[in-house]
Amino acid sequence: MGKITDLEVWKKLQAHRTHFHGHALAKIYDADTARVARMSFRLDGLEADFSRNHVTPETLALLLELAEARGVEMLRDAMFAGKKINESEKRAVLHTALRRTSPEALMLDGEDVGVLVRETDKRLAAFAGAVRDGSWTGATGKKITHIVNIGIGGSDLGPRLVVSALRSFAGPLSVRFAANVDANEMEAVLKGLDPARTLFVVVSKTFTTLETLMNARFARAWLVKELGEAAVAKHFVAVSTNQPEVERFGIAPANMFPLWDWVGGRYSLWSAVGLSIALAIGWDGFLALRAGAAAMDAHFRTAPLASNMPVLLGLIGLWYRNFWGSGAHAILPYAEKLRDLPRFLQQLDMESNGKRVTRDGALSEVSTGPVIFGECGTVGQHSFHQWLHQGTDVTPADFIGIREDDSGKPEHHRALLANLVAQAEALLRGRAMEDPARTNPGDRPSTLLWLDKLDPYNLGLLLALYEQKVFVQGAIWGLNSFDQWGVELGKILANEKIATGI
Ligand code: F6P
Repeated sequence: MGKITDLEVWKKLQAHRTHFHGHALAKIYDADTARVARMSFRLDGLEADFSRNHVTPETLALLLELAEARGVEMLRDAMFAGKKINESEKRAVLHTALRRTSPEALMLDGEDVGVLVRETDKRLAAFAGAVRDGSWTGATGKKITHIVNIGIGGSDLGPRLVVSALRSFAGPLSVRFAANVDANEMEAVLKGLDPARTLFVVVSKTFTTLETLMNARFARAWLVKELGEAAVAKHFVAVSTNQPEVERFGIAPANMFPLWDWVGGRYSLWSAVGLSIALAIGWDGFLALRAGAAAMDAHFRTAPLASNMPVLLGLIGLWYRNFWGSGAHAILPYAEKLRDLPRFLQQLDMESNGKRVTRDGALSEVSTGPVIFGECGTVGQHSFHQWLHQGTDVTPADFIGIREDDSGKPEHHRALLANLVAQAEALLRGRAMEDPARTNPGDRPSTLLWLDKLDPYNLGLLLALYEQKVFVQGAIWGLNSFDQWGVELGKILANEKIATGI
């Protein structure tokens, strides 16, 4: 696809960057009273306000030209059509097919993936419904009250985030998560649980992941000690692509829910990997989550690039990464229920675009994915925000706010949102003081993402926005955002060291 730095538009962006001197951002922001309205975009219950970024109409035009030059739309259409754009693994990338409602066939290798999804959905809905209404009981006939999701990476972070974010939609089941191979986590997760009322959902796309298998064996031994071997069939289900390994572990195919190699781990919460979500909030809630994501997909596919939210989020992030030298990007959810969002986005973004080789096998000439980090507002303010305000780097930040108060404590909610807006304002304007050490330089960017309320649909919108943002950036950098070869070496070495001693 050619060198990105040879593009005329790349050189123009480099030259354009030099126009932003001093307190350019506040000046640009104040000079145009229509700016916020012009740079804010809404899709259903999600609004994105890009106005506090170093972006003029000229910047935007150049960034959009870059997206066109790098074929973002072509790659996007290839992804949705089921083309094998994960070239290093020769796989299609079709997590979007999990949330698509169109009855039209989507053929992949002679099979309609829509049929596969619908068949599995029927089983998932029936199973989640049965556990929730108590018609699926444990081995001793007692109702299940607790679910333990055992998985790691994409088999943990997505469901963990969603279950926590949507806790006010929870039904009768309480869901816990175990990921780390450090047994202290399993110990803590199992504490106080009654084996007769506990269901383990073992989630592993490959079913070869060391941490998950060790934790699943731990759980199995804990259960069998109390209830005997025969109880496993009523207390363990698996989510995987690897039926032979699931059976080898001792879980019958009837208790296994499939996913497919065209669903990447970090994009998998929409598949059977989201079973814990359906157990927590019910099948309809899970469908509403998917519907939000589907609406964002439709927007991503059809909105002009200039008003396309994932495209803008991706382009502005790339603008700071490649032309302002920003090595990091902060994710700041001003919502306790979104505490796990930074961790989730860390995997989504850094495992997708933390790469130095492009699709054509060449070393990337430009910096790719930044460090993603973050914390809940206002907790982060008393920790690393000092660095955001006065550190030597310019670090873009996404503030995520929920307009509706669901805490029942409006005075807390008002304080929370006031802090969000105050932080964005302080970053934008800064404050000049006689003492340079007390001076906040300002001129620091942020994007405001507002959800009208935190419900399954709006959360689906938000998560798909970020998925597609990562896609846009990977497409421009020329990366395969859907493999993760870098993590393999560590796994091999760990297994060797387990076998031979440390
Ligand atoms: O090691 C990285 C990784 O492969 C992630 O991409 C994945 O989400 C995680 O491990 C867990 O993999 P699995 O679902 O196969 O257990």
